[in-house]
Amino acid sequence: MTQLPGLLDTEALRKDFPILDRVLHDGKKLVYLDNAATSQTPRQVIDAVSEYYERHNANVHRGVHVLAEEATALYEGARDKVAAFINAPSRDEVIFTKNASESLNLVANMLGWADEPYRVDRETEIVITEMEHHSNIVPWQLLSQRTGAKLKWFGLTDDGRLDLSNIDEIITEKTKIVSFTLVSNIMGTVNPVEAIVRRAQDVGALVLIDASQAAPHMPLDVQALQADFVAFTGHKMCGPTGIGVLWGRQELLEDLPPFLGGGEMIETVSMSSSTYAPAPHKFEAGTPPIAQAVGLGAAVDYLTSIGMENVARHEHAITEYAVRRLQEVPDLRIIGPVTAEDRGAAISFVLGDIHPHDVGQVLDEQGIAVRVGHHCARPVCLRYGIPATTRASFYLYSTPAEVDALVEGLEHVRNFFG
Ligand code: ALA
Repeated sequence: MTQLPGLLDTEALRKDFPILDRVLHDGKKLVYLDNAATSQTPRQVIDAVSEYYERHNANVHRGVHVLAEEATALYEGARDKVAAFINAPSRDEVIFTKNASESLNLVANMLGWADEPYRVDRETEIVITEMEHHSNIVPWQLLSQRTGAKLKWFGLTDDGRLDLSNIDEIITEKTKIVSFTLVSNIMGTVNPVEAIVRRAQDVGALVLIDASQAAPHMPLDVQALQADFVAFTGHKMCGPTGIGVLWGRQELLEDLPPFLGGGEMIETVSMSSSTYAPAPHKFEAGTPPIAQAVGLGAAVDYLTSIGMENVARHEHAITEYAVRRLQEVPDLRIIGPVTAEDRGAAISFVLGDIHPHDVGQVLDEQGIAVRVGHHCARPVCLRYGIPATTRASFYLYSTPAEVDALVEGLEHVRNFFG
């Protein structure tokens, strides 16, 4: 068995993930390499969600009975855990949403309805990048269409990195917000946060970082990032679906207007007007995803017990091995960085002229789960002149043997398509 320095004890870890024992068609053991789409869920998280429903289920912040108090304590306890996990200065800076898309849309809408100095209008500019997930493109297109603000973006270099050569022309005195991904979901590129944040701060622009592909894989410290907002989602970091996070700096959350109105986000309501609860509740209208937040809290406990430095080290070793082994496959072209440095554990590639959907299907027949398509990042495919890619993405339970299985699977694909 291949041994690499820095690997976690996956034999022990994998016992926490019941789904990884699944045997698929023809007795093929599941090789799950679609972690950038969603990670698998450890028993500890499944148990926390079950226990919540079995023993504590009630609405939060509303009742005086025992279950309501327990549910509220669990929900707010999850907020404490997330705040500690990302080193937030205050728990009140952690807003629960339903996913990262909602977190990103929330910021776009806060700014869309804001007064000066935050207001986005036809005199101002919004900056994103060509490697964003659609979730970090479409909300800004909508905001730009609504307000007349100009949408600008950083392009990509041939090796899958951001082209910052014209940073002073892209981020200008007119820029109100710079929103970019920390790690590309399609190419795995890790972006140079510091250079972008420094320029944004120089011109007084706000910074929003999409950390959906970072929070699961590396230590995330919102204070060190020096951004104004950070968005991520639970289901890519061992948590349940239906729970996302928006972290925002307290003074901004105090100043900016709410987006959704409803129960829980108010202080007082009369027929003519309302006043709002302080953040985070101001941004959490209606019954929140309570069980999902509890599950995310358990996921944070789980990841913390392993140690995010250890997770990052494991994934770096697996990624380095995968990049090397994939380059041995004839006709395979990696779309994105071909080194393991400054890249995460999502690797996109094309295999000769075989359509990625065919690659995915033949791999699936061998029990290997990858994602194919444009990965909700179609501008990246357009940039590199390809319709789609096959993407293998790894996580803390991925093994060198699974990388070998992928490489063998790809040989099989090549033979199949002659
Ligand atoms: N954003 C997820 C992915 O990249 C769904 O696959």
